[in-house]
Amino acid sequence: MTTTTTRAAVYIGTNQLQIRDVTLREPGPGEVRVRIGASGVCGSDRHVIDGEWQMPSPTIMGHEGAGVVDAVGEGVTSLEAGDHVIMTWFYPCGSCTSCRQGRTWVCTGSNSEACLLPDGTSPLELDGAPAYPYLAVGSMSEYVVVAEQAAIRVPDEVPFDVAALIGCSIATGVGAVVNDARVQPGRSAVVIGAGGVGLSIIMGLALAGASPIIAVDVNDDALELARSFGATHTVRSGADLPERVREIVQDGADFAFEAIGRPETIALMPATLQRGGTAVVVGLPPEGQPVPIDVLALAEEGKSLLGSNYGATVPARDFPMLARLYLNGRLPIDRLITNRFSLDEVNDAFDLMRAGAKGRSVLIF
Ligand code: APR
Ligand code: ZN
Repeated sequence: MTTTTTRAAVYIGTNQLQIRDVTLREPGPGEVRVRIGASGVCGSDRHVIDGEWQMPSPTIMGHEGAGVVDAVGEGVTSLEAGDHVIMTWFYPCGSCTSCRQGRTWVCTGSNSEACLLPDGTSPLELDGAPAYPYLAVGSMSEYVVVAEQAAIRVPDEVPFDVAALIGCSIATGVGAVVNDARVQPGRSAVVIGAGGVGLSIIMGLALAGASPIIAVDVNDDALELARSFGATHTVRSGADLPERVREIVQDGADFAFEAIGRPETIALMPATLQRGGTAVVVGLPPEGQPVPIDVLALAEEGKSLLGSNYGATVPARDFPMLARLYLNGRLPIDRLITNRFSLDEVNDAFDLMRAGAKGRSVLIF
């Protein structure tokens, strides 16, 4: 079988991310090859690299990517060479009960989490041994081979760096507001953590007409950025958060979103809410860490705790919609990109994230 050699950022083991030449096979039936234009640097990649989430290795990192289709496998009908696409890191199988109900984000038949294509194989090899594309994307690579349904066509006018972010942080953040919480105009919201995901939640809240929008972070630069995306108030994070929120909205907020993934801040959410309010868990804590929540108070006060996975995104429906909102000036996604790096500088990009830098870094190919 013909193969391509592609340079990629490979996770070899905890804290080891190396640029290597990886062998990529041709796209098989129902698969497409994409030349990557940009790949976002996301907190989930960092969880894996830092050993917080278990993942087989070697794994080609990156799951927030966009590029141009350059070859299609047998039977592919929805895409052709030259199409600009955004990758989804959770491609739907199309035939399980969830998919048939239209709830593709809770598909039970996808091989994405196993980092495999629909036929159960990986398209990658490193030094003659199997290697895996992270979440069946592995976009920190010049080329990828992905499932046809993992690549969604968007207008050519959307820049690759903006398109890449639509594939994860924007879908996750805006989707949490629009699809999961279904926030209506005039509702109040607290957003804990103003990183890439938190800022896209704030963008989604501004789009939905929420008010006030209270951004919470430990970093002043992040709070300043939050204001520029529509936060009406900012609060320095601390255990007194519920009281600080009540200084702004007397009875507490209608919604709270956690976008860090810390058990302590997730546990704080219900106390920031008014009766009947909804706490939405967007940030993902390290595996196996319980969150202490007073469930009796939660039930008595009629509050809801909602787990938001990928913003309940249906990629084929939502990616083109988010791209349109960007093109129409309704979602300033480009302003989220604060740093651009080359593939060779990938470790610098993760170090910047570990140092608590604000906004989003993107690798440009
Ligand atoms: N209180 C408030 N804010 C905090 C705290 C804290 N105790 N600790 C950290 N933060 C802030 C950081 O200053 C940063 O602005 O949380 C933000 C986290 O942002 P990023 O590191 O950019 O992470 P992001 O990519 O947004 O992902 C957040 O969402 O999808 C998940 O896996 C992802 O768990 C991760 C989370
Ligand atoms: Zn991500």
